Amino acid sequence: MSAKIAILPGDGVGPEIVAEAVKVIGCLREDYGLNVELEEAQIGGVAVDATGEPLPEATLRLARQADAILLGAVGGPKWDTIERPRRPEQGLLAIRAALGLFGNLRPAILYAELAGASALRPEIVADLDILIVRELTGGIYFGEPRGVRTLETGEREAYNTLVYRESEIARIARLAFALAAKRGARLCSVDKANVLESSGLWREVVTRLASEYPQVEISHLYVDNAAMQLVRAPKQFDVIVTGNLFGDILSDCAAMLTGSIGMLPSASLDERAKGLYEPVHGSAPDIAGRGVANPLATILSLAMMLRYSLNQPQLAERVESAVGRVLAEGYRTADIYTTGTRRVGTREMGDAVTGALRTGASC
Ligand code: IPM
Ligand code: MG
Repeated sequence: MSAKIAILPGDGVGPEIVAEAVKVIGCLREDYGLNVELEEAQIGGVAVDATGEPLPEATLRLARQADAILLGAVGGPKWDTIERPRRPEQGLLAIRAALGLFGNLRPAILYAELAGASALRPEIVADLDILIVRELTGGIYFGEPRGVRTLETGEREAYNTLVYRESEIARIARLAFALAAKRGARLCSVDKANVLESSGLWREVVTRLASEYPQVEISHLYVDNAAMQLVRAPKQFDVIVTGNLFGDILSDCAAMLTGSIGMLPSASLDERAKGLYEPVHGSAPDIAGRGVANPLATILSLAMMLRYSLNQPQLAERVESAVGRVLAEGYRTADIYTTGTRRVGTREMGDAVTGALRTGASC
Protein backbone atom coordinates (compact mmCIF):
# COMPACT_ATOMS: atom_id res chain seq x y z
CA MET A 1 0.00 0.00 0.00
CA SER A 2 1.31 3.42 -0.83
CA ALA A 3 1.93 6.04 1.84
CA LYS A 4 0.30 9.41 1.48
CA ILE A 5 2.32 12.60 1.78
CA ALA A 6 0.53 15.91 2.22
CA ILE A 7 2.42 18.70 0.47
CA LEU A 8 1.91 22.15 1.97
CA PRO A 9 4.17 24.65 0.15
CA GLY A 10 2.87 27.74 2.00
CA ASP A 11 4.30 31.22 1.46
CA GLY A 12 7.38 33.08 0.29
CA VAL A 13 10.11 30.72 -0.85
CA GLY A 14 7.96 27.75 0.30
CA PRO A 15 6.66 26.74 -3.15
CA GLU A 16 10.14 26.98 -4.75
CA ILE A 17 11.93 24.84 -2.19
CA VAL A 18 9.12 22.31 -1.85
CA ALA A 19 9.13 21.85 -5.65
CA GLU A 20 12.75 20.65 -5.39
CA ALA A 21 11.92 18.18 -2.62
CA VAL A 22 9.02 16.90 -4.77
CA LYS A 23 11.53 16.41 -7.59
CA VAL A 24 13.60 14.27 -5.23
CA ILE A 25 10.49 12.25 -4.30
CA GLY A 26 9.89 11.72 -8.04
CA CYS A 27 13.40 10.36 -8.40
CA LEU A 28 12.97 8.05 -5.39
CA ARG A 29 9.77 6.72 -6.91
CA GLU A 30 11.25 6.07 -10.34
CA ASP A 31 14.69 4.81 -9.42
CA TYR A 32 14.23 3.34 -5.96
CA GLY A 33 10.63 2.11 -5.97
CA LEU A 34 9.40 4.42 -3.23
CA ASN A 35 5.65 3.88 -3.07
CA VAL A 36 4.03 7.19 -2.16
CA GLU A 37 1.23 9.41 -3.38
CA LEU A 38 1.25 13.17 -2.98
CA GLU A 39 -1.59 15.59 -2.40
CA GLU A 40 -1.17 19.34 -2.13
CA ALA A 41 -3.08 21.82 0.07
CA GLN A 42 -2.82 25.41 1.28
CA ILE A 43 -1.54 26.73 4.58
CA GLY A 44 -0.44 30.15 5.86
CA GLY A 45 -0.87 33.42 3.99
CA VAL A 46 -1.92 31.83 0.69
CA ALA A 47 -4.67 30.02 2.61
CA VAL A 48 -5.73 33.27 4.31
CA ASP A 49 -6.02 34.91 0.88
CA ALA A 50 -8.00 32.00 -0.58
CA THR A 51 -10.25 31.07 2.36
CA GLY A 52 -9.81 33.61 5.15
CA GLU A 53 -8.19 30.96 7.40
CA PRO A 54 -4.49 30.12 7.82
CA LEU A 55 -5.37 26.43 8.33
CA PRO A 56 -8.48 25.64 6.26
CA GLU A 57 -10.61 22.60 7.15
CA ALA A 58 -9.65 20.81 3.92
CA THR A 59 -5.96 21.15 4.72
CA LEU A 60 -6.40 19.81 8.24
CA ARG A 61 -8.45 16.90 6.88
CA LEU A 62 -5.70 16.03 4.39
CA ALA A 63 -3.03 16.38 7.10
CA ARG A 64 -4.95 13.99 9.36
CA GLN A 65 -5.31 11.39 6.59
CA ALA A 66 -1.70 11.60 5.46
CA ASP A 67 1.14 9.47 6.80
CA ALA A 68 3.47 12.45 6.69
CA ILE A 69 3.40 16.13 5.81
CA LEU A 70 5.99 18.19 3.96
CA LEU A 71 5.72 21.90 4.63
CA GLY A 72 7.62 24.80 3.04
CA ALA A 73 7.19 27.95 5.12
CA VAL A 74 4.47 30.36 6.22
CA GLY A 75 4.21 34.09 6.70
CA GLY A 76 5.24 37.35 5.09
CA PRO A 77 4.88 41.13 5.47
CA LYS A 78 1.61 41.09 3.56
CA TRP A 79 -0.13 39.36 6.51
CA ASP A 80 1.79 40.90 9.43
CA THR A 81 -0.86 43.48 10.19
CA ILE A 82 -3.99 41.32 10.18
CA GLU A 83 -5.46 40.27 13.54
CA ARG A 84 -3.39 37.65 15.36
CA PRO A 85 -5.76 34.60 15.05
CA ARG A 86 -5.68 34.86 11.24
CA ARG A 87 -1.96 35.33 10.80
CA PRO A 88 -0.13 32.65 8.81
CA GLU A 89 1.95 31.59 11.86
CA GLN A 90 -1.29 30.58 13.58
CA GLY A 91 -1.80 28.00 10.83
CA LEU A 92 1.47 26.39 11.80
CA LEU A 93 0.72 26.48 15.53
CA ALA A 94 -2.78 25.10 14.87
CA ILE A 95 -1.58 22.16 12.78
CA ARG A 96 1.04 21.29 15.44
CA ALA A 97 -1.64 21.35 18.15
CA ALA A 98 -4.37 19.59 16.13
CA LEU A 99 -2.10 16.70 15.17
CA GLY A 100 -0.40 16.45 18.57
CA LEU A 101 3.05 17.01 17.08
CA PHE A 102 4.75 17.38 20.44
CA GLY A 103 8.26 16.25 19.51
CA ASN A 104 10.27 18.69 17.45
CA LEU A 105 13.63 17.38 16.26
CA ARG A 106 16.08 20.00 15.03
CA PRO A 107 19.46 18.64 14.09
CA ALA A 108 22.31 21.13 13.66
CA ILE A 109 24.95 19.44 11.57
CA LEU A 110 27.94 21.17 10.08
CA TYR A 111 28.99 19.81 6.72
CA ALA A 112 32.78 19.90 6.55
CA GLU A 113 32.62 21.78 3.23
CA LEU A 114 30.66 24.61 4.86
CA ALA A 115 32.88 25.18 7.91
CA GLY A 116 33.96 28.52 6.41
CA ALA A 117 30.35 29.76 6.34
CA SER A 118 29.98 29.59 10.14
CA ALA A 119 30.32 32.78 12.16
CA LEU A 120 32.47 30.79 14.58
CA ARG A 121 36.05 29.66 14.10
CA PRO A 122 36.26 26.36 12.17
CA GLU A 123 37.92 24.49 15.08
CA ILE A 124 34.98 25.35 17.34
CA VAL A 125 32.35 24.01 14.92
CA ALA A 126 34.18 21.35 12.87
CA ASP A 127 32.17 18.08 12.83
CA LEU A 128 29.38 19.64 14.85
CA ASP A 129 26.41 17.28 15.21
CA ILE A 130 23.79 18.38 17.74
CA LEU A 131 20.16 17.40 18.00
CA ILE A 132 17.75 19.78 19.70
CA VAL A 133 14.54 18.13 20.89
CA ARG A 134 11.99 20.85 21.51
CA GLU A 135 8.61 20.33 23.16
CA LEU A 136 6.21 21.75 20.58
CA THR A 137 2.61 21.64 21.74
CA GLY A 138 2.78 22.98 25.29
CA GLY A 139 4.46 25.57 27.47
CA ILE A 140 3.95 29.29 27.09
CA TYR A 141 2.97 29.00 23.41
CA PHE A 142 -0.31 27.34 24.34
CA GLY A 143 -0.77 27.99 28.09
CA GLU A 144 -4.02 29.49 29.38
CA PRO A 145 -4.96 32.04 30.52
CA ARG A 146 -3.50 34.38 27.98
CA GLY A 147 -4.62 37.74 26.73
CA VAL A 148 -4.58 41.48 27.09
CA ARG A 149 -6.68 43.23 29.73
CA THR A 150 -7.25 46.83 30.74
CA LEU A 151 -6.52 47.65 34.36
CA GLU A 152 -8.56 50.04 36.51
CA THR A 153 -5.96 52.69 35.83
CA GLY A 154 -6.69 52.39 32.13
CA GLU A 155 -3.29 50.89 31.47
CA ARG A 156 -3.23 47.68 29.43
CA GLU A 157 -1.52 44.51 30.65
CA ALA A 158 -0.66 41.47 28.53
CA TYR A 159 -0.09 38.00 29.99
CA ASN A 160 0.77 34.43 29.03
CA THR A 161 1.05 31.26 31.07
CA LEU A 162 4.01 28.91 31.16
CA VAL A 163 2.51 25.60 32.19
CA TYR A 164 3.82 22.01 31.89
CA ARG A 165 2.22 18.82 33.15
CA GLU A 166 4.30 15.89 34.36
CA SER A 167 2.97 13.73 31.52
CA GLU A 168 3.96 16.33 28.90
CA ILE A 169 7.46 16.58 30.31
CA ALA A 170 7.84 12.81 30.55
CA ARG A 171 6.65 12.33 26.96
CA ILE A 172 9.23 14.68 25.43
CA ALA A 173 11.96 13.50 27.80
CA ARG A 174 11.40 9.84 26.83
CA LEU A 175 11.65 10.76 23.14
CA ALA A 176 14.90 12.63 23.82
CA PHE A 177 16.39 9.83 25.95
CA ALA A 178 15.54 7.28 23.25
CA LEU A 179 17.11 9.43 20.51
CA ALA A 180 20.20 10.08 22.64
CA ALA A 181 20.59 6.34 23.26
CA LYS A 182 20.80 5.84 19.47
CA ARG A 183 23.56 8.40 18.97
CA GLY A 184 26.12 9.93 21.38
CA ALA A 185 24.28 8.81 24.55
CA ARG A 186 24.52 12.25 26.16
CA LEU A 187 21.41 14.26 26.96
CA CYS A 188 21.38 17.81 28.30
CA SER A 189 18.07 19.06 29.67
CA VAL A 190 17.68 22.84 29.54
CA ASP A 191 15.41 24.78 31.91
CA LYS A 192 15.24 27.80 34.20
CA ALA A 193 14.75 25.86 37.43
CA ASN A 194 16.43 28.55 39.51
CA VAL A 195 13.46 30.86 38.82
CA LEU A 196 10.45 29.01 37.39
CA GLU A 197 8.20 26.41 39.04
CA SER A 198 7.43 24.84 35.65
CA SER A 199 11.17 24.33 35.19
CA GLY A 200 11.53 22.86 38.70
CA LEU A 201 8.99 20.20 37.79
CA TRP A 202 10.66 19.74 34.39
CA ARG A 203 14.01 19.00 36.05
CA GLU A 204 12.42 16.67 38.61
CA VAL A 205 10.64 14.59 35.96
CA VAL A 206 13.69 14.38 33.67
CA THR A 207 15.89 13.36 36.62
CA ARG A 208 13.43 10.66 37.66
CA LEU A 209 13.24 9.23 34.12
CA ALA A 210 17.02 9.14 33.78
CA SER A 211 17.17 5.94 35.85
CA GLU A 212 15.25 4.16 33.06
CA TYR A 213 17.99 5.06 30.60
CA PRO A 214 21.23 4.15 32.40
CA GLN A 215 23.10 4.08 29.07
CA VAL A 216 22.44 7.81 28.60
CA GLU A 217 24.45 10.36 30.54
CA ILE A 218 22.15 13.15 31.71
CA SER A 219 23.06 16.74 32.55
CA HIS A 220 21.07 19.89 33.27
CA LEU A 221 21.73 23.51 32.31
CA TYR A 222 19.90 26.76 32.91
CA VAL A 223 18.84 28.25 29.59
CA ASP A 224 21.04 31.36 29.85
CA ASN A 225 24.10 29.22 30.44
CA ALA A 226 23.01 26.82 27.66
CA ALA A 227 22.87 29.72 25.19
CA MET A 228 26.35 30.77 26.23
CA GLN A 229 27.74 27.22 26.02
CA LEU A 230 26.22 26.77 22.56
CA VAL A 231 28.31 29.58 21.15
CA ARG A 232 31.34 29.00 23.41
CA ALA A 233 31.88 25.26 22.98
CA PRO A 234 28.99 23.73 21.00
CA LYS A 235 30.65 20.35 20.53
CA GLN A 236 30.11 19.52 24.21
CA PHE A 237 26.46 18.79 23.29
CA ASP A 238 24.96 15.67 21.79
CA VAL A 239 21.19 15.90 22.36
CA ILE A 240 19.46 18.84 24.07
CA VAL A 241 15.89 18.55 25.36
CA THR A 242 13.92 21.63 26.33
CA GLY A 243 10.53 23.32 26.40
CA ASN A 244 8.77 25.15 23.61
CA LEU A 245 10.03 28.73 24.02
CA PHE A 246 13.59 27.88 25.08
CA GLY A 247 13.75 25.41 22.19
CA ASP A 248 12.59 28.03 19.73
CA ILE A 249 15.41 30.34 20.76
CA LEU A 250 18.18 27.77 21.19
CA SER A 251 17.42 26.08 17.88
CA ASP A 252 17.92 29.31 15.95
CA CYS A 253 21.14 29.84 17.84
CA ALA A 254 22.33 26.30 17.03
CA ALA A 255 21.31 26.79 13.41
CA MET A 256 23.66 29.71 13.00
CA LEU A 257 26.59 27.65 14.27
CA THR A 258 26.35 25.72 11.04
CA GLY A 259 26.71 28.82 8.90
CA SER A 260 23.35 28.78 7.22
CA ILE A 261 19.87 28.21 8.46
CA GLY A 262 19.20 27.29 4.82
CA MET A 263 20.71 23.86 5.51
CA LEU A 264 18.67 22.76 8.52
CA PRO A 265 15.75 20.34 8.43
CA SER A 266 13.23 19.53 11.15
CA ALA A 267 10.71 16.91 12.10
CA SER A 268 7.68 17.36 14.35
CA LEU A 269 6.39 14.01 15.53
CA ASP A 270 3.27 12.73 17.24
CA GLU A 271 3.17 9.73 19.58
CA ARG A 272 3.04 7.30 16.65
CA ALA A 273 5.85 8.91 14.67
CA LYS A 274 3.55 10.49 12.14
CA GLY A 275 5.25 13.74 11.37
CA LEU A 276 5.35 17.13 9.79
CA TYR A 277 8.66 17.93 8.12
CA GLU A 278 9.82 21.43 7.35
CA PRO A 279 12.98 23.46 6.95
CA VAL A 280 13.89 25.48 10.05
CA HIS A 281 14.19 28.70 8.04
CA GLY A 282 11.16 30.85 7.34
CA SER A 283 9.46 32.09 4.19
CA ALA A 284 12.26 34.58 3.35
CA PRO A 285 9.97 37.07 1.58
CA ASP A 286 12.96 39.20 0.53
CA ILE A 287 14.18 36.51 -1.88
CA ALA A 288 10.87 34.79 -2.70
CA GLY A 289 10.18 34.13 -6.37
CA ARG A 290 13.76 34.80 -7.43
CA GLY A 291 14.88 31.20 -7.67
CA VAL A 292 17.83 31.69 -5.34
CA ALA A 293 16.61 30.06 -2.09
CA ASN A 294 18.47 27.05 -0.76
CA PRO A 295 16.28 23.92 -1.15
CA LEU A 296 18.63 21.67 0.86
CA ALA A 297 16.91 22.13 4.24
CA THR A 298 13.65 20.98 2.65
CA ILE A 299 15.33 18.07 0.89
CA LEU A 300 16.98 17.08 4.19
CA SER A 301 13.55 17.36 5.87
CA LEU A 302 12.34 14.85 3.31
CA ALA A 303 15.21 12.58 4.39
CA MET A 304 14.00 12.88 7.99
CA MET A 305 10.51 11.93 6.80
CA LEU A 306 11.89 8.81 5.10
CA ARG A 307 13.63 7.86 8.33
CA TYR A 308 11.03 8.65 10.99
CA SER A 309 7.61 8.31 9.34
CA LEU A 310 8.07 6.18 6.21
CA ASN A 311 10.45 3.62 7.69
CA GLN A 312 12.96 3.95 4.84
CA PRO A 313 16.25 4.58 6.63
CA GLN A 314 18.37 3.49 3.66
CA LEU A 315 16.64 5.95 1.35
CA ALA A 316 17.09 8.66 4.00
CA GLU A 317 20.82 7.96 3.99
CA ARG A 318 20.92 8.05 0.19
CA VAL A 319 19.30 11.47 0.11
CA GLU A 320 21.65 12.74 2.82
CA SER A 321 24.70 11.42 1.02
CA ALA A 322 23.47 12.92 -2.27
CA VAL A 323 23.34 16.30 -0.48
CA GLY A 324 26.86 15.70 0.87
CA ARG A 325 28.00 14.88 -2.64
CA VAL A 326 26.68 18.05 -4.28
CA LEU A 327 28.34 20.10 -1.55
CA ALA A 328 31.59 18.24 -2.12
CA GLU A 329 31.24 18.94 -5.84
CA GLY A 330 31.09 22.64 -5.01
CA TYR A 331 27.43 23.47 -5.66
CA ARG A 332 26.33 26.42 -3.51
CA THR A 333 23.23 28.56 -3.31
CA ALA A 334 23.78 32.23 -2.45
CA ASP A 335 23.43 31.73 1.32
CA ILE A 336 26.36 29.29 1.48
CA TYR A 337 28.42 30.62 -1.40
CA THR A 338 32.12 31.29 -0.87
CA THR A 339 34.70 32.27 -3.46
CA GLY A 340 35.89 29.36 -5.57
CA THR A 341 32.65 27.39 -5.34
CA ARG A 342 29.90 27.06 -7.93
CA ARG A 343 26.97 29.39 -7.37
CA VAL A 344 23.63 27.91 -8.41
CA GLY A 345 19.93 28.70 -8.05
CA THR A 346 17.18 26.73 -6.31
CA ARG A 347 16.35 24.58 -9.32
CA GLU A 348 19.91 23.76 -10.26
CA MET A 349 20.58 22.71 -6.68
CA GLY A 350 17.54 20.39 -6.76
CA ASP A 351 18.72 19.00 -10.11
CA ALA A 352 22.19 18.42 -8.70
CA VAL A 353 20.73 16.39 -5.81
CA THR A 354 18.53 14.26 -8.08
CA GLY A 355 21.52 13.84 -10.39
CA ALA A 356 23.63 12.57 -7.48
CA LEU A 357 20.80 10.24 -6.42
CA ARG A 358 20.43 8.87 -9.95
CA THR A 359 24.13 8.08 -10.33
CA GLY A 360 23.90 6.23 -7.01
CA ALA A 361 20.89 4.19 -8.19
CA SER A 362 21.32 0.46 -8.52
CA CYS A 363 19.10 0.31 -11.59
C1 IPM B 1 9.71 27.98 14.54
C2 IPM B 1 9.07 29.32 14.27
C3 IPM B 1 7.65 29.29 14.81
C4 IPM B 1 7.72 29.05 16.29
C5 IPM B 1 6.80 30.52 14.46
C6 IPM B 1 6.77 30.80 12.98
C7 IPM B 1 5.39 30.40 15.00
O1 IPM B 1 9.83 30.34 14.82
O2 IPM B 1 9.17 26.96 14.05
O3 IPM B 1 10.72 27.96 15.23
O4 IPM B 1 7.93 30.01 17.07
O5 IPM B 1 7.58 27.90 16.72
MG1 MG C 1 11.69 29.68 15.62
